Amino acid sequence: MHKMRRINTATFAIVAAAGALLSAPAVSVAATDAAPLAAKYNCTACHAIDKKLVGPSFKDVAAKYAGNAGALVKLEHSVKAGSTGVWGAMPMPPNNVPDADLKPLVEWILAAK
Ligand code: HEC
Repeated sequence: MHKMRRINTATFAIVAAAGALLSAPAVSVAATDAAPLAAKYNCTACHAIDKKLVGPSFKDVAAKYAGNAGALVKLEHSVKAGSTGVWGAMPMPPNNVPDADLKPLVEWILAAK
């Protein structure tokens, strides 16, 4: 009985450690899932993750700005102020997104793949 408990505890510790190792990188790399924010602020009326609607797909946005260190700040501004002439003739109107939601939203777009 005693021996059995020790094995279970050890097994649990190993599983927990492995789980921590596996999940740690995923947590630090993946942006928070901001899909609910994209819906809340109506971005999804004009954008989809993987296909062009009125505006570019979020995958295309992520690809265009990959490796661009200033992309987060630039796109936060584009989303708030609106954007025109970057992707085509169709302009994006200004979007009223509070700063607290803007950053996770744009980080999530830049991580789209
Ligand atoms: C009425 C349609 C419409 C809505 C609503 C809309 N967009 Fe856009 N979006 C566009 C269009 C069109 C473009 C391309 C503009 C251009 O060519 O400069 C665009 C471009 C973008 C870009 C790329 C900007 C750049 O400078 O490269 C991002 C990021 C983006 N939208 C995010 C969002 C987010 C986040 C929301 C919601 C808060 C949103 N959009 C709502 C139509 C829309």
